[in-house]
Amino acid sequence: MERNYKIPVHVSIIMDGNGRWAKERGRERFCGHAEGVESVRACTEEAVRKGVRYLSLFAFSEENWNRPRDEVSSLMELMVKAMVNELPTFLSNGIRFVVLGNRERLDGRLNSEIDECMRRTAACVNMTLVVFLSYSGRWDILQAAKRLALEAAADPSMVPKVKDMTIEDFSGYMSTAGIPDPDLIIRTSGELRISNYLLWQCAYSEMYFTDTLWPDFREGEFDAALAEYAKRDRRYGKVK
Ligand code: IPE
Ligand code: IPE
Ligand code: MG
Repeated sequence: MERNYKIPVHVSIIMDGNGRWAKERGRERFCGHAEGVESVRACTEEAVRKGVRYLSLFAFSEENWNRPRDEVSSLMELMVKAMVNELPTFLSNGIRFVVLGNRERLDGRLNSEIDECMRRTAACVNMTLVVFLSYSGRWDILQAAKRLALEAAADPSMVPKVKDMTIEDFSGYMSTAGIPDPDLIIRTSGELRISNYLLWQCAYSEMYFTDTLWPDFREGEFDAALAEYAKRDRRYGKVK
């Protein structure tokens, strides 16, 4: 099939505004997170329909560990539940499921559900859904640098390779190795910042900000972001 270059290969979303969505309705923050799961489902299905190859979602940042304990544990519970519930949909839609982030900080049960879901969807080829959990851009760059330094320290024959290292080679040490950089990054809820998300990988991403709160961001909103992307002129520093 010929590729439509107006459709981004990789769409990434900073899903923000769940708390405000709940507050506007006089409900607990948790209700906003639960409703946000419906938006995840809607956008995932729409991304598959539109031929997006990678959809990635910022679900929980390293900084989010600093939220009240109750909120953190209810978010973790919600993730486990959502993963178990969505597995049949992933399989029937051919969606490969991947979690990236500092998984050492996640609890054992969540980690084993993640492993199970990743293992069972590993051969799916329609689309890859990446969920960033306990993730931060600086953590990613740091773990890449540490790994490289330790490899070079253990094997001095690597030194010339390190000297000649390219940007692409270093990308191979990031947690996102093998996943193309996002073409389009969407942030909901009106915040105009990157919040320590994909710092290395966002070098040439198109940014799309919307005031819509994440629980209200469904197919129509996703399509609007794709339509805006299709109008962008990506010059990569060149003159056109
Ligand atoms: C995004 O919604 C979900 C997470 C960061 C886990 P928020 O919980 O940040 O919602 P607001 O920003 O407080 O409205
Ligand atoms: C960013 O949202 C992280 C996620 C969407 C998972 P936050 O709501 O935590 O971001 P800040 O703190 O407002 O920048
Ligand atoms: Mg927020």
